Amino acid sequence: MASKFMNWVDARFPATQLWNDHVGQYYAPKNFNFWYYFGSLAMLVLVNQLLTGIWLAMFYKPSAAEAFGSVAYIMREVEWGWLIRYMHSTGASFFFIVVYLHMFRALLYGSYRKPRELLWIFGCLIFLALMAEAFMGYVLPWGNMSYWGAQVIISLFSAVPVVGEQLTTWIRGDFVVGDATLNRFFALHVVALPFVLVGLVIAHIMALHHVGSNNPDGIEIKANKGADGHPVDGIRFHPYYTVKDLFGVGVFLILFAGVIFFAPTFGGLFLEVDNFSPANPSVTPEHIKPSWYFTPFYAMLRAVPSKGGGVIVMFSAVFILFFLPWLDRSRVKSIRYKGIIFKVALTLFAVSFLSLAYLGLQAPSDGVKLSARIATVTYFLFFLLMPIYSKLDRTKPVPERVTG
Ligand code: HEM
Repeated sequence: MASKFMNWVDARFPATQLWNDHVGQYYAPKNFNFWYYFGSLAMLVLVNQLLTGIWLAMFYKPSAAEAFGSVAYIMREVEWGWLIRYMHSTGASFFFIVVYLHMFRALLYGSYRKPRELLWIFGCLIFLALMAEAFMGYVLPWGNMSYWGAQVIISLFSAVPVVGEQLTTWIRGDFVVGDATLNRFFALHVVALPFVLVGLVIAHIMALHHVGSNNPDGIEIKANKGADGHPVDGIRFHPYYTVKDLFGVGVFLILFAGVIFFAPTFGGLFLEVDNFSPANPSVTPEHIKPSWYFTPFYAMLRAVPSKGGGVIVMFSAVFILFFLPWLDRSRVKSIRYKGIIFKVALTLFAVSFLSLAYLGLQAPSDGVKLSARIATVTYFLFFLLMPIYSKLDRTKPVPERVTG
């Protein structure tokens, strides 16, 4: 019965072919490790955000007069509303944890190198869209930090020469952050950007399956095929990696549930204290700061004396990622075969990024500013000096076959 039905479907839609191309007969390197959990986890969190977001949108009211109250209503009156809301708010933070680890894996194993440049660029575009999506979502509950966060970030656009002021008014849809701003952010957060994100993720996976996955050894497994035409170091995605990924999903869900049920605000990091009171244009929070996942970039913004300079540095910190495939001139891809210079550079980069995340959460002071300047310079030097040190670095010979 089942196979008859599938024959009927396959004659009209390439269902079996799609399954085989992307799962059943997709050969992935057999040496995937811990770092390879995060792609599938990112997809899981994306689905979580889409589903919980749809349910939130059923009760949320996108108007300055009602938004805050409608979120309180979801939390207190709607059945299971608190769970849906905490899954969505915790999901936002977990999305960034997962995506940052996913990107770091690419740095470890040179997954952005030829022939995966476009795969990497789609990833960078996903990162940009995700940041826009998170920023606009944060404004929706219309808490006081939502309001002032939007105020600060939108006013950055006034640093654009000549048209800056008009540009900020155009983005806000008013002379102040208000109802019009909230309404358009709702439309973008709920309809436009989710479409963009899902479209980019599909392009990301298509590019991945076109060139094949990299792996912790940075070896192209397609270069060594057996008599059956499949890579000798490849194994079928299903059942081997579906099972591995399911294990990752299990561990992830335990951690995710732990935060949702026991620490949904995560000490003010995932949901901030100031956002438990409604937006108030006449009461500025003592210390305006964005969500933790933006603080590395926010720390860079504050480290530069002029507003215009800060905005350029902050945006460059993201845009420089796009050029990574052409900055790395190493003879090898994976850190396993790179030399000491790359290892030191990557460690300094990771330390500078984490320091910036911490510094961006702190109240401004001279010490914070100086440390942020040092960390910002380190962050950029990692990229700007890469063409030089990646060439000078003494690499080790890469084996023919993947190692364990
Ligand atoms: C919604 C966000 C994202 C989703 C759902 C996603 C999904 C995936 C999946 C399922 C894989 C294959 C499994 C794996 O290698 O872990 C993958 C690989 C990859 N992703 Fe992403 N990704 C996302 C964001 C990003 C971002 C922001 C970047 C970089 C800026 C990126 C860069 C890469 C690279 C370079 C690979 C190939 C890794 C390799 O073969 O070694 N991804 N992605």
